Amino acid sequence: MKNSTLHSFVQLFHYIRPLRKDYAKAAFYSFFSKFIDILPEILLGIAINTVVEKENAWLARLGFTSLKIQLLLLSLMTLMVYGLGSLFEYLYSVKWWRLTQRLQHNFRVAAFEHVQQSTMASFSKQKTGNLLSILNDDINQLERFFEEGIDSIVDFFCSVLLTSITFFVLAPKVALLVMLPIPLIIYGNFFFQAKLGPLYFTVRQKAGALGARLANSLLGMLTVKSLVAEQLEATKIRQASQAYQDANFNAIRWHAMVSPVLRFAVLWGFIVTLIYGGFLVAEGQLDLGAYSTLVFLTQRLLTPFVNMAEIMINFRRAMASAARLLQLFQLPREVSPNIPLRLRGKITFSSVSFAYEQHAPTLNKLSFTILPGQTVAFVGATGAGKSTLLKLLLGFYLPTAGKVFFDAQELRTISLPALRRQIGFVSQEPFLFEGTIAENISYALPTATREQIVQAAKNAAAHEFVIRLPQGYDTRLEGRDYILSGGQKQRISIARALVRDPAILILDEATSAVDNATELAIQKSLAKISQGRTTLLIAHRLSTVKQADQIFVLKSGEIVEQGTHHTLLKQDGLYANLWKLQTGENLTHAELLAEE
Ligand SMILES: Nc1ncnc2c1ncn2[C@@H]1O[C@H](COP(=O)(O)OP(=O)(O)OP(=O)(O)O)[C@@H](O)[C@H]1O
Ligand SMILES: [Mg+2]
Repeated sequence: MKNSTLHSFVQLFHYIRPLRKDYAKAAFYSFFSKFIDILPEILLGIAINTVVEKENAWLARLGFTSLKIQLLLLSLMTLMVYGLGSLFEYLYSVKWWRLTQRLQHNFRVAAFEHVQQSTMASFSKQKTGNLLSILNDDINQLERFFEEGIDSIVDFFCSVLLTSITFFVLAPKVALLVMLPIPLIIYGNFFFQAKLGPLYFTVRQKAGALGARLANSLLGMLTVKSLVAEQLEATKIRQASQAYQDANFNAIRWHAMVSPVLRFAVLWGFIVTLIYGGFLVAEGQLDLGAYSTLVFLTQRLLTPFVNMAEIMINFRRAMASAARLLQLFQLPREVSPNIPLRLRGKITFSSVSFAYEQHAPTLNKLSFTILPGQTVAFVGATGAGKSTLLKLLLGFYLPTAGKVFFDAQELRTISLPALRRQIGFVSQEPFLFEGTIAENISYALPTATREQIVQAAKNAAAHEFVIRLPQGYDTRLEGRDYILSGGQKQRISIARALVRDPAILILDEATSAVDNATELAIQKSLAKISQGRTTLLIAHRLSTVKQADQIFVLKSGEIVEQGTHHTLLKQDGLYANLWKLQTGENLTHAELLAEE
């Protein structure tokens, strides 16, 4: 077994531990069932012995001399054996299946929760399709192994142990000969395993890559169609699917050989028993009943070794999935101190710098203070670092240098969930959930009353269009397009941020998709809703930020200008230029063209 396989197994054990008592029970049922399983062959031997040996037979020596009674007794024993066999088979099947279901459920939920709690930095690098493939396929692969694998292992040890004992008791010499090929089978086992382990790991990787491709293509369907790129996408999917198929073909080529090759060992055992045992019977050293039992038992002794190869390969396959699952558990968790927090709304950036991992710095020594209740705007060219600054504020990323303070507390000493609960954040790419509009608005505050929901919608200038929908607030949003326009989605997400009455409200291009009239409506209510809370605005349309108490102009991650709309216009710098450009003041058409 390779180290990584062993490592995966040991780690899996951590999740299996709580269920160990049930596993012990299931293993006991399995064991008992296997024990009963070899009894029919022994009974067969006894039956032949009874008929052939007459008064020397085992039953006769016990005092049952009448053939009728002997046969009746044998039938009764057979009935009992089969009855018990069925009962225990039922018991262990139910037990294993139930255990497996609990295990796969625990795995899936634990893995999902871990992914959910991982840091934004590590999560954002994951491909959705690959995550889906791990949480679905790989866990199902493990499920398949646990459903039958452990029972098969118990089966292996029981069958081998019990049949070996029977063999040695009945005919030790035959037993030794029959067992000769076992080392060879074990060697074959390891040979095939070493070949197949890496091949199956590749299969799982290709499955993940295919999942990632599928998710990406399906999510981009509108773009694909509009660019008439269906062929291109279909080719990408075909290639990914082909890679998965090829990986499986590679594995199948070896996998299919395992049983046919190793079966020759069983043939050996069978022939040895047949010939050598036959001689022993002829010489009177072995009775006919024992001989029959042995011939039938040969298969039972050697076949498990062949099956074991299959089990070990399935084990390898399951461990390839386990390794992928365990990789998810390696994602670093977001940790923050769990202490209560009451935000007043003051925000301070003290010489904050930030770079996305290996990338060039995005923010460079930002310093500013926002007082409680102020409305502050960040403007600047696309890619200047505005959204990144907000990600730092929400604790999704930590500054590479410098500190962020809320009131007097440093970000690293604050409970992140508590912080986020007091910040209403509307992202640049609003995301709505399946459910009704009301449910979407009250998503972060499920206890919200209908009045609160309507009030939030009114403040976000969403009420008017919502009540015109066929089912109003109870209109269900589902499928891809959610029947809402871009600007409508933005307003629903503003309402969702407002319903919690946050101390800090952050709007990142939240009104970029609404028309001028709606924007004006939102602005009017913003003037009202920003009362008593700190509000951060990001907008390219400068009319949106005109009223702000402070405006920061960002350029390549640095604050290059700051002030109110009027002071900035007076400075006649970057902001003033942008303003002129947008309002068209003092610019002729020719100048506008020249600006480009
Ligand atoms: N996850 C990321 N990993 C690496 N670089 C990133 C990541 N997200 C953003 N960037 C880079 O950081 C820079 C700033 O991005 P940011 O999203 O903060 O810009 P922005 O000012 O919000 O732009 P816009 O006005 O277009 O929204 C960009 O150059 C961008 O390429
Ligand atoms: Mg942005």
